[in-house]
Amino acid sequence: MQLSPRAPGFVANPYPAYAAIHRHGEAVFWEEYGHWCFAGYDIVNLLLRDKRFGRQITHVASRAELGLAEPAPHLSAFDAVEAHSLLELEPPAHTRLRTLVNRAFVARQVEQMRPEIATLADRLIDTFIADGGVELLSRYAEIIPVTVIARMLGIAEDMAPHLLDWSHRMVRMYTFARDEAVEIDANAAARDFASFIRDEIAQRRANPDDDLISLMLTRSARDGEILGDDEIVSTAILLLNAGHEATVHQIGNAVATILEFGLCPRAMFADRQTTALAIEEMMRFDPPLHMFTRYALTDCEPVPGVSLRKGETIGLLLAAANRDPRRFPDPGNFIANRTEGTHLAFGAGIHFCLGAPLARLELQIALPALFARLPSHPRLATTPQRRDAYHFRGLTELQLVWDQ
Ligand code: HEM
Repeated sequence: MQLSPRAPGFVANPYPAYAAIHRHGEAVFWEEYGHWCFAGYDIVNLLLRDKRFGRQITHVASRAELGLAEPAPHLSAFDAVEAHSLLELEPPAHTRLRTLVNRAFVARQVEQMRPEIATLADRLIDTFIADGGVELLSRYAEIIPVTVIARMLGIAEDMAPHLLDWSHRMVRMYTFARDEAVEIDANAAARDFASFIRDEIAQRRANPDDDLISLMLTRSARDGEILGDDEIVSTAILLLNAGHEATVHQIGNAVATILEFGLCPRAMFADRQTTALAIEEMMRFDPPLHMFTRYALTDCEPVPGVSLRKGETIGLLLAAANRDPRRFPDPGNFIANRTEGTHLAFGAGIHFCLGAPLARLELQIALPALFARLPSHPRLATTPQRRDAYHFRGLTELQLVWDQ
């Protein structure tokens, strides 16, 4: 398949291309990326759980063996953060780190934050409800997730603009055809972010509290597990970045879906059960993260006709899997009470989104709260434009207007 991930038509709407892939089969060699991509629901779900594939490769083969370039010196600070990132590790290192933070993110634990997230959402709506319009991403969608994750880590809320800036600059590393200027900037952001977290660690070491940074320090000491400061820095940065980058755009994509398709929020968000189902359908229908990659850890043929060599990269098209007609009949139709089961927007297997219960809770609060307070017919002031950042699908801005 030849298709630029930056082609404006594709960025605006990748779903026709996914439908074409489904008509052709379950996998496609994407020339621009230079690797196989998988789109079928069943195969993506299997490969995410398949131990023959991993996020890391240098634990099973040397760079020289794989023909990989040596780490670039201008990316040393960025690489240092990635080196201990949960998302980039494989067991046993992955299991050890994930177990340590997992307890804070299980559904029962995050559910306790419901009242404070609801209060935050209401407080933000108060700031614009009388204005007759708002740019929703900057005034609402972005603020809720960054505030919540900062609070969990015990970081002052007025740091939010810095956290967002560092995070956005680091995340640009994952976009297609990045250039060296992006790399240098991402490295500078990683260096400053890490230095900020090191200061936070020093403060918690002196004065432990009940936040996640303190917990990483004290629990690791208590369990006899020594978590080095580098590991705590990487984990805190990952939690802060992953804790808001996707949720912002899921809120934006969901609001755009409701308004573009003329859906009825009052019916969808009638009670907690209908809300939970509708949010899952939002995530199936237009998720914020479209592709994650894995390395083949061994030579293999995951589907007939696709032979992979050890070290080869594959792409798992989560958003295409969510539109597989073999799994979700009439996939281009938004059906709020679908019963076909889980989408893959949070991934699957050992790297399944750690923050899924938190993201779900934030969405289940933020969307109903917004539509409950807006007048019955909010409108899009301008046609929403998608960011030129495949595979992070989100809007550049979301301007809403309503009659007072
Ligand atoms: C709608 C919002 C979100 C979406 C769609 C999303 C999606 C994902 C996906 C697809 C993965 C798996 C990546 C892979 O398999 O390579 C992942 C991993 C992860 N997510 Fe999320 N995420 C969201 C929100 C959050 C939040 C709020 C947090 C808060 C902490 C979070 C933390 C993480 C972490 C730490 C990982 C790495 C887990 C691991 O490697 O074991 N995410 N997320």
